Amino acid sequence: MFDAPKLNLSKSMAEFERGKKFTPGGVLGIRRPYNFVEGEYPIYFDNGKGGRITDIDGNEYLDYLCAYGPIIIGHREEEIDNAAIDQIRKKGFCFSLTQKIQNDLAEKISTLIKCAETTVFTKTGSDATSLAIRVARGYTGRTKIIRCGYHGWHDWCVEVKGGIPAKLYEDTLEFHYNHLDELEDLLKKHGSDTAAIIVTPIGHPLAEQCEYPKKGFLEGCRNLADKYGALLIFDEIRTGFRVNMGGAQTLFGVTPDLSAFGKALANGYAISACVGKRQFMKKIEKEVFISSTFFPNSIAYAAALKTLEFIEKNNVIEEIRRKGEWFNAELAKVCAAHKVETELSPIPQMPFVTFKKNADKTYKEMRKDFYTQLIRRKVFLQPYHHGYICYRHTEADLNETLKAIDESLSYVDGKKY
Ligand SMILES: Cc1ncc(COP(=O)(O)O)c(C=O)c1O
Repeated sequence: MFDAPKLNLSKSMAEFERGKKFTPGGVLGIRRPYNFVEGEYPIYFDNGKGGRITDIDGNEYLDYLCAYGPIIIGHREEEIDNAAIDQIRKKGFCFSLTQKIQNDLAEKISTLIKCAETTVFTKTGSDATSLAIRVARGYTGRTKIIRCGYHGWHDWCVEVKGGIPAKLYEDTLEFHYNHLDELEDLLKKHGSDTAAIIVTPIGHPLAEQCEYPKKGFLEGCRNLADKYGALLIFDEIRTGFRVNMGGAQTLFGVTPDLSAFGKALANGYAISACVGKRQFMKKIEKEVFISSTFFPNSIAYAAALKTLEFIEKNNVIEEIRRKGEWFNAELAKVCAAHKVETELSPIPQMPFVTFKKNADKTYKEMRKDFYTQLIRRKVFLQPYHHGYICYRHTEADLNETLKAIDESLSYVDGKKY
């Protein structure tokens, strides 16, 4: 049981103290230290390249959080960055009218995503999911939303309710992923006033293991939406341009009415998209208002077009799946060789090690120790959130990671809880 030496994080810690003077909490939300292991993880990164990142103390890590998903290819990917730089230098990107590149990107997306007959580009995942909800309410004239999964920080869906009047979220009802019976019960009660069912096509709840849809789950969501006259929305913010070029909707063969994409679309540049069937999206022409100073800002459009081209040209989706399947299979062998009981993500693109919940709750200590040992071995993963494999992760990187996981599990194995 080798206890790896603690990292020197003195600059991160000092910067955090400075940050707290000028920003509430120093850094925002999921980037705060309590989402990792406090005192063990860096708080500020300095730079990244490919599948690696370096903190402001000079520690270099293998990056498996990938900015919580957008880094699908790798950090500082020249082809993508050059497309953005060209847009800045040769065209400009912030105008009172829209540039033609918006049509280029929307047309491209319509060739890839089945339900994307039309597209509205936004900047964040929360923008795109909230837009889809507004379209659904505008189209159906109904109020209630039935949701399953994390859909962002806006009033209708955020878990932490501070600052939000109850009337802004009381029409949002929740069911558990893969529990069609719960969805049906909600629809039996509220079906006639339900505007939309929004669901992540792959289950990835916070701090819980990821799940594939059970046979018939997504089809069941589709059928129930049709039966009760509600729109079906797939939140593909994490799965989009990652599990399949056509999204999880193509992978699983179930077509929603509307869908939200973001994260991987532009390898880190800020862009998201609400896409959908024409008859529903048409509402945006007159009755449903969407506007933002920055939605037409085109740096990310150029990056997105180049990212999609790069993904197709280099077979990125297939490469990530292949690496992830190999990694998950090897990870299963590593974990099986240890006493401590772990659970693993079945999704090749989204690896995650969790600890089997036990009655005395010592799994929480195990998790803390494991992720402490892992970060000390320079593998950057989040204890409560699945990771991501990106295109630039090499076989050597994955092997290095397996070794670090093996050693960190040995540490947990050898400790009394
Ligand atoms: C499935 C899903 N939907 C929506 C969002 C919200 O996206 P954003 O943080 O860009 O607003 C996220 C963010 O992690 C997400 O994972």
